[in-house]
Formats: sequence, C-alpha cells, structure tokens
Amino acid sequence: MSDHIVIERQDAVQIIRLNRPDKKNAITRAMYADMAAALTAGDADPAIRAHVFLGLPGAFSAGNDLADFMAIASGGEGGGEVWDFLLALANVGKPIVSGVDGIAVGIGTTLNLHCDLTFATPRTTFRTPFVDLGLVPEAGSSLLVPNVLGLQRAFAMLGLGEGLSAERAQAAGLIYKVVAEDELEAATLAAAREIAAKPPEALRIARDLMRGDRLELVARIKQESEHFRARLKSDEARAALVAFMTRKK
Ligand code: COA
Repeated sequence: MSDHIVIERQDAVQIIRLNRPDKKNAITRAMYADMAAALTAGDADPAIRAHVFLGLPGAFSAGNDLADFMAIASGGEGGGEVWDFLLALANVGKPIVSGVDGIAVGIGTTLNLHCDLTFATPRTTFRTPFVDLGLVPEAGSSLLVPNVLGLQRAFAMLGLGEGLSAERAQAAGLIYKVVAEDELEAATLAAAREIAAKPPEALRIARDLMRGDRLELVARIKQESEHFRARLKSDEARAALVAFMTRKK
C-alpha cells in the first residue's frame, strides 16, 4: 500500500484519504488498487458502518494520473485497477460520505456520484473534461449525471466540460451540502458518525431500496470502460495528453 492513500479508522468509520499533494491528488493505478481494497475490506468488516473519502486542502483530486493514461495511449497495458475500483464503488454495501475542497476533476468528480452524502466547499468546482481529452465519461457518469441534472445540463458538464460550482451542484441535487473550508472535515466525519449510529440493517435495506439494483449501472460502467480504453489509443486522446505533458506553466 502506498502512502498516497491513507486509511484510518475512527470507531465505526473508515476514512480513505487521498494524499498526493505534489500532483494535486492525481490518482495512480496503485492508488486505485488501494482504494478498491479498502472499500472491499471495510464492507466485509462488521465493525465498519460507513466509508469516508477525503482529499487535501484545495485539492480533492485532479483525476486520473495523466502519465498513466499516456502510458496506455503509447501502447502499454493497464486499466484493471480502475475497473476494480469502479466496481467496488458501484457495489459498495455501506454508505459513503465524501468531503471535497477545491480541485475535483474527472474521477475526482465522478466518484462523488456514488456517495450517499457529499460535502463541498464554496471554492470547489466539479469538472469532467473527458471529451476535451479525446475521452468519454466514466464511472457511470453518462447514466448518473443526466438522471440528476437532466440532459442539457449533463451535456454542458460531460460534453462541453463546463465546470459546476459547489453551490450549483448543491442546487441541482448533485451534492448534499456546501460548507466552509474549515468546517469540511468535521461536517463530513460528523455525518459519517451519524450514519454509523443508525440501526445498520434498516439503513442497509433503505439504501438498497433507494439505489435499486446495480445491474444497469455496472453495465453502463462496462460500456463506458470499453469506449474509454479504445479512446485512450486514439489520435484525439494522444494529442490532448501530449499537450498536457508538454505544456508550459
Ligand atoms: N495527472 C498527472 N499529474 C497531474 C495531474 C494529473 N491528472 N493534474 C496535475 N498534475 C500535476 C502537474 O503536472 C504538476 O506536476 P509538476 O509540478 O511535476 O509539473 C502538479 O500536479 C501540479 O499541477 P499544476 O497544473 O501545476 O496545478 P494547478 O493548480 O495550476 O492546476 C489542475 C491544477 C488540476 C487544474 C491542472 O493540473 C490540470 O488541469 N490537471 C489535469 C486534470 C485532468 O485533466 N485530469 C484528468 C481528467 S480525466
């Protein structure tokens, strides 16, 4: 396990913290693997009743590590860890609370679509520039975002790559609450503790009823992943990745 993902347990709450400050919490293959393992282990552990995702001040996550994408675009293998993480996320049996501050790009936005409560700070913008990178939406976002935002605002977000402020995301029903930076972690953990104090079986059934069966969601994630893998090897994606890698600051 790398120190880019830090797992902590506070009573019945498992905290999964992204911790790669020098790269704004861009997520590597090893980080996906660690997060998938933590979700699976926490779900299997009767002592854990809620999962929490947290990032760093100012950077929840800059999305998938683009150097990892570049390696695949250049003919390398990979992607299994992402798939394992997305399946673990879509099928997770216990509630997830996330606390998002600042940068939330790509999977840094879409993983929150699978959370039960997301808190975000006023300076947070949710961005999914998949098409600009020559890619397609992932993590079931092509299904989940239109369901919440309607087709036109979903198109603006997933097609045009338009950012959504925390305030607009809350008004649209994409996240639960906007809280100040210095209250984010406390609010996120307090919600997780509140969840953990509920009768777990009743909460599990209620959550399952609200989510319905996951077959359609998992099928969509698979469909998106097939396109995504093919797109990574496209000229459009290669050009966008090279542009990022060689950009001047
Ligand atoms: N993958 C790999 N490295 C990344 C990264 C990513 N997704 N996002 C940021 N980084 C790295 C930068 O290359 C830089 O590394 P360096 O200091 O070694 O050059 C470091 O993180 C800091 O990023 P920087 O761009 O200087 O910070 P910023 O605050 O000016 O901008 C972002 C932050 C997130 C807006 C910008 O880095 C960005 O657009 N990243 C790409 C986001 C993206 O497209 N993600 C994939 C979505 S599918």
